[in-house]
Amino acid sequence: MNHPPYKTKSVEKIALLPYRERLKKIRRAGYNLFFLNSEDVYIDFLTDSGTGAMSEDQWAALMQGDESYAGSSSFNRMQKSVRDILGFPYVIPCHQGRGAENVFNSLLVKEGMLVPGNAHFDTTRAHIEHNLGIPIDCTIASAYNFQSRHPFKGNVDVKKLKQVLKKNPDRIAYILITATCNQIGGQPVSLENIRTVSGIAKRFRVPLFFDIARFAENAYFIKSRERKYRDWPLPKIVREMMRYADGALMSAKKDAIVNIGGFIALRGKKLFQELGPRAILMEGFLNYGGMAGRDMEALAVGLREGIEKNYLCHRIGQIQYLGKGLAKIGIPVLQPWGGHAVYIDAGQMLKHIPYYQFPGQALAIAAYIEGGIRGVEVGSLMEGRDPATHQNKKARQELLRFAVPRRVYSQEHLDYVIDIFTKIWKKRKYIRGVKFTREVPILRHFSSKFSVV
Ligand SMILES: Cc1ncc(COP(=O)(O)O)c(C=O)c1O
Repeated sequence: MNHPPYKTKSVEKIALLPYRERLKKIRRAGYNLFFLNSEDVYIDFLTDSGTGAMSEDQWAALMQGDESYAGSSSFNRMQKSVRDILGFPYVIPCHQGRGAENVFNSLLVKEGMLVPGNAHFDTTRAHIEHNLGIPIDCTIASAYNFQSRHPFKGNVDVKKLKQVLKKNPDRIAYILITATCNQIGGQPVSLENIRTVSGIAKRFRVPLFFDIARFAENAYFIKSRERKYRDWPLPKIVREMMRYADGALMSAKKDAIVNIGGFIALRGKKLFQELGPRAILMEGFLNYGGMAGRDMEALAVGLREGIEKNYLCHRIGQIQYLGKGLAKIGIPVLQPWGGHAVYIDAGQMLKHIPYYQFPGQALAIAAYIEGGIRGVEVGSLMEGRDPATHQNKKARQELLRFAVPRRVYSQEHLDYVIDIFTKIWKKRKYIRGVKFTREVPILRHFSSKFSVV
């Protein structure tokens, strides 16, 4: 792993509860890690969203927050950052990614319209469906093949995309490229693929938008995995990526390293003027959109820090270090490494647990009991039930995701996690599945309760 390009100025205390206490806490939480209090968790890998550590420059910028309702200078600074880094002239601030998705899809998606793209994130999918549209997954097949080592598993399957566009000439709302793809392991999209998709979009006269929650991590992968761009500086790669989009939606809680915030960035004035009134209705006036002035200041700085080479080298290096450490023990881990998280194949590791007893959740519980580590299941529990048959849907993979917050944990923390998994690996045969004691019908993984089988 590369040397950390920062040192610690302020600390947050964490403590590992004794083993018996952890057992009590997880039992009381109904074996659902979302119900654990954060002080009962030692290493929190639940998400990388909004959990990053801000820099001294971000904290300093916070003090300059202009909280004026209209004409805020903080908004101007945020807009300048977006223009400088991403190259889009028009910016609509939103409280977070799904706020941007709500405003955007309420205008662009009409009943029965299609949004082809690569591994739409679940809130994106939900907003398209909420507006009675249909997301069409056109990700390449390798994305769902655990054995594949394709360097850009997030790529769009060009043939499939063309078929969808040809068959439905009047039904396409827009094409969406998500970079990187959270849904399939933080996997990136190549610049070559972005360029090809853009050519297709132009040919079929449909707009192309990006979900750029993790655009900086994607740019880093382009630099390190796509030979042609090896010598390009990261800001140039970012501008080149964005050149092909008509606009982008961002959850700034990821690559802009802030605790809250997001925006819609657009190339065209017409769409900006159409979306504006909706943004005012749903998020807030155009100069704050649900964010405090101080949050826009932190975002303006974080967006610049998020594309620094040393930072990204270390960040992606942490994911690789953790992934390699786990793989060395024998644990099946998704490869190539993604940008923000390590994904363990719990289905492979715990073959004795059937999918309807949720191996990913069983492994998440074991990680908490053994070491106070909190991750999240991405498998059949998250998939939910088939609305027609009411049967549990079988996910393509039973994963446990460890999302690593930005600039938060040290190599010692990662070594600790690897140590704990050395112990879990030896005891894996004794890990048991779970069954519902209370099943919530919507987004059930967040708030259902379980008992051990
Ligand atoms: C790719 C992607 N898009 C959109 C979102 C939604 O963003 P938010 O959580 O800020 O609403 C997320 C959140 O994890 C994401 O990973």
